[in-house]
Parts: sequence; structure tokens; C-alpha cells
Amino acid sequence: MRGSSSICRAVRNHRIQRTFGTHVRHPPNQKELAGRVSAKETSTAWWRNAVIYEIAAISFQDSNGDGYGDLPGLLQRIDYLKWLGVGAVWLTPIYKSPDHDFGYDISDFCAVDPRYGTMEDFERVLHALHKDGIKLILDFVPNHTSDQHAWFQESRTSRDNPKADWYVWAEAAPNGGPPNNWLSRFGGSAWEWCEPRRQFYYHSFLTSQPDLNWRNEQVHQAMADTMRFWLDRGVDGFRVDASAVLIKDELLRDNPPDPEADDTTPPPQKYMPVFTDDRPEAMRCLEYVRGVLDEYDERLLCGEVQGKTDRIGHFYGNSKPRLHLPLNFALLDTQWNAIALQATIDAYFNAIPDGAWPDFVIGGHDKHRVATKLGEAQSRILAMLLMTIRGTPFLFAGDEIGSEQVKIPPDRVRDPFEKLVKGFGLNRDPERAPLRWHNTERGGFTTGEPWLPLSEDRSRNIEGQRCDARSLLNLYRELIALRRTEPCLLHGEYRPRRSHNDVFWFARALGKAEIVVALNLCREPRLWEWQGRGVTLISTYLDREPGKIEGPTHLRPNEGVIVRINQ
Ligand code: NOJ
Repeated sequence: MRGSSSICRAVRNHRIQRTFGTHVRHPPNQKELAGRVSAKETSTAWWRNAVIYEIAAISFQDSNGDGYGDLPGLLQRIDYLKWLGVGAVWLTPIYKSPDHDFGYDISDFCAVDPRYGTMEDFERVLHALHKDGIKLILDFVPNHTSDQHAWFQESRTSRDNPKADWYVWAEAAPNGGPPNNWLSRFGGSAWEWCEPRRQFYYHSFLTSQPDLNWRNEQVHQAMADTMRFWLDRGVDGFRVDASAVLIKDELLRDNPPDPEADDTTPPPQKYMPVFTDDRPEAMRCLEYVRGVLDEYDERLLCGEVQGKTDRIGHFYGNSKPRLHLPLNFALLDTQWNAIALQATIDAYFNAIPDGAWPDFVIGGHDKHRVATKLGEAQSRILAMLLMTIRGTPFLFAGDEIGSEQVKIPPDRVRDPFEKLVKGFGLNRDPERAPLRWHNTERGGFTTGEPWLPLSEDRSRNIEGQRCDARSLLNLYRELIALRRTEPCLLHGEYRPRRSHNDVFWFARALGKAEIVVALNLCREPRLWEWQGRGVTLISTYLDREPGKIEGPTHLRPNEGVIVRINQ
């Protein structure tokens, strides 16, 4: 943030010194060194060490007063990202798009949509991020295009044009209706009639988002070219959109009804997606995509995997690698108490293959804001958990200040999900609302009318929290800094401890070094029953001086602490 006050700077320097200035670091012994060397060998990939920060450019910073965030706006805020300490930005689609689905309906994979700026603006952002040591990953949307894409416009004209087989086309059922019972995620049949071909085309999402046919070799080549287009420009990898649905059953078998569905189940989820999701052939496609990525050094492939944790292992790959990081949303789905949390985390670590690198996601443009569920005090606990658990942390812009769901009046709803599947709380606009940079009406986001309303709570903004030494934002910043400087937190193995008394705790260990993290998940004080001695590195209250600590320890309400164990 340019122009932050000198008071703010003083607060910042004071905090950094107070937290980190007094550690005495003993030189590592041989065994420790051996541990660190081997940790380094297995941890050279930048994405193991980076905190990944998702930005939807549309909601980040507007530069021209049209109410839409854009690339020049993002460029103005790169010093904030550096200050926060993020290692990589994941940018949601900025490609040319009619924008029926937050830019995930792409009409040209290799062009920047004018709403966001120009290719030169994109290059300026990439360059500025790289100059500050921040990587950039883009969204890669291989499953579908916009119906405005030239490929679809050609494909739809006849059954024998050069791109006739680039999309998923099928004959009508004998009664003239859709070929089978597959449903779109956004409601209704997933099949849409196309008169010129007298056939149906398949769309996993909107009718204006036809699915590409990943059984066609030419589609592979064309999508590989779009990847290379961006990789050649220097982007550091991709987040693969909808990675589970790239191939559908060749026989077009009907999906079975879900026996657990009831009145609360949104209609599109009333069938089990057995023949549309997770097909073995889809995994081959991910292997192909990974192969293209691996033509380049040190690039990351992460990808969207919604649903149950036990599926996640497949997405890493077996004999052939698939995704480096299948995104793990378990922390968003878990019940928030110590017993449930230890089970959730254990199940996740058990679900990923040996040697696979974990990740934890606490927010995203499709997920309701976690701060609304947890409240401010427990959001601090989540921050400490995210930055200390083994794995790459992902957060969505605004999570670091505890942004909550924003109330969207019915006449301002933009999300097609909400428009098409009403009444199930599926609207994603509340988490996609523009970021508040300061406490003015338009929050420093725009000088015009914002595309979605900003939160009414003006007090929760970046500038305010930046100047408050004990804010959630400063807690994030300190945790990120601590994580970066503690090899144990970056590479150490995860050692579960038995949680009780509402305290979830675990250790991270590397060589002889050990750090323990204890999180009181309760609004009342709790006894953390541990034995041992150490030094407190940081409390979620940001008020404990680094100092000696000996178990058992009383934790204050909603308090988390990180302790370096004495050897
Ligand atoms: C997944 C994206 O995250 C979501 O926002 C979008 O609606 C669907 N893919 C369809 O593209």
C-alpha cells in the first residue's frame, strides 16, 4: 500500500523486532544439518514454501472508475502483497470472455479481456510481481469454452466441419429429448439442442459453456498451445479448473439417483455423478496437461477437486504425475471443534499418497467466507493453523482481514448459480464482493459504482488493520514471516498429538528441532495439558513477549500459541 503512514511503519518495525528479535539461534549440530539438507533436497520447489494468495482481479482494485477491478489496479497494489509476504498469486480468469460466469466462460484463451486491460498491462503485472519475488499462476480452464469461442462457433455449424468433433455432441434420445439424465451443475439438463447440427451438445455448467471433447487429439494440442502461450510469457503455473470432469462416460450411461438426497439437496446434486466425474480417462488428461507443464522448469500445477477428501489421492497421480497440488478444502468443510478438526486433518494426511505434498485452502471465489462461520476470534486460530500445518497454504484476498459474506440485494445478484438454482444458499457473490482497502464508502476499491456492493462494515479494511499492531492482518503477516524463517514449519514432519479439553495441538519436527502449536478452539480459557519446556514464539493475541514456557499451560479464550521446544 503506497503512502502508509510513518506511525504504521513504526508499528510494523516494532512488532517484527519484538517477535523475532530476541531468539537466540544456536548453530545447528551435524544431525540437524543433515536433516536440513535432506529437507532442502525435497523442498526445492518454490510452491512448497510459498503462501498462495488468490486474487479475482475484478474485485481487487479498480484503476479507471468503471467499478470493475483491473490489471493496472492490481499493479498499484503489488507492494501490499510484498508487505504481506505472499509467495505467489493465483489470478482467476482475465481472458476474453462474455462474462456469464465470472470469466470462466472464455472466448479467447490467449487474449486479455479489455475490462481487465491489455496484454501489456498483464506483462507489467507479471514483471512487477517477479521483481518482488512473487510468482504468478493463472487459471487454466480446459473443460469448456464460451459458446462465443471461435472453436464452438465453427463446431456448431455442421457435423463435418474441421472442428465438428471438438465438443461433446450426441444424438437425441428416441423421444427427441436429451441423450441421457446428466444434469448441469447450474441446473437443468446438461444437454442443449443445436439446430444447425440437429444434435445436442453437453455443458457441465451453463448452456453458454459447452464442454470441449478431450477424447479428441486436436483438442489436446490446442489446449497445450494455450498453456505454452502463457508459460512462454513467464507465468509460473496454473490452477486447473474443474479438473475432475474433463471426460465423461463414452457410453453416456445415466447417473444413478443419490439415495441420500432430500429436500435440502439442490436439484443438480440429486444424482451421483458417477459417469460424469472422476472418470479414469480424465486422469489421463491431467497427466497430459502435466506433461506439457513439465516441458518448463519449476512450474506449478494445482487444481480444483471439490467433494470428499478420500478422492484427493488420485489427483496426485500414480506412475505418472498429475497435479502437484489438488486443492484441499477440508478445513472449510470440517466442524469447528478440536475433535472434529484432528479427525479432518488426519483423514486428509491419510488420503494423500506417501511423499505427496499437502495443501490447505481456507477461501476461494466459490466458497463462503470462513470468517462468517468462525467469527473474528477463531479466524485468528485458523490463521495460525494454516500457517503452521504441513503443506502449502492458500487464501483468498480478504481472508487476511477476516472479510465476511457481503449482503447482496436481489436486484444486484450476478452469480448465475444463484439465478438458476434459487433458495439453496449457493450464491457466490457474497464472497466475491470487492476488497475494502480503507473505511470510505467505496473502500478505496473504485471511484465509480462497484460491480458488487462492498461490505457495510467499513471498519474491516486493510489500511485500518495494517496500522493496528494486533489486527488479524498483522497476525497473518507475522505468521507468514515466521513460517518463512522456520525450516521446521516449512519442511518438518507433522506429528499429531491427542487433542482434549478443546485444545487441538500438534508438533512439527525437523531433525532435532521441534515446534508445537496449540490452538484453543473454545471461547473460554482452557488448560493445555502438555509436558515440556520451550519458548513461546507467538500468540494469536500478539501480546505475549517471546519467553520461557513450561507445560501444562493455561490458554486464554480463543488463544493459539506456537512454542519452540527446548532440546
Ligand atoms: C469452477 C470455478 O471455480 C467456478 O467459479 C466456475 O463457475 C466453474 N468452474 C465453471 O467454470
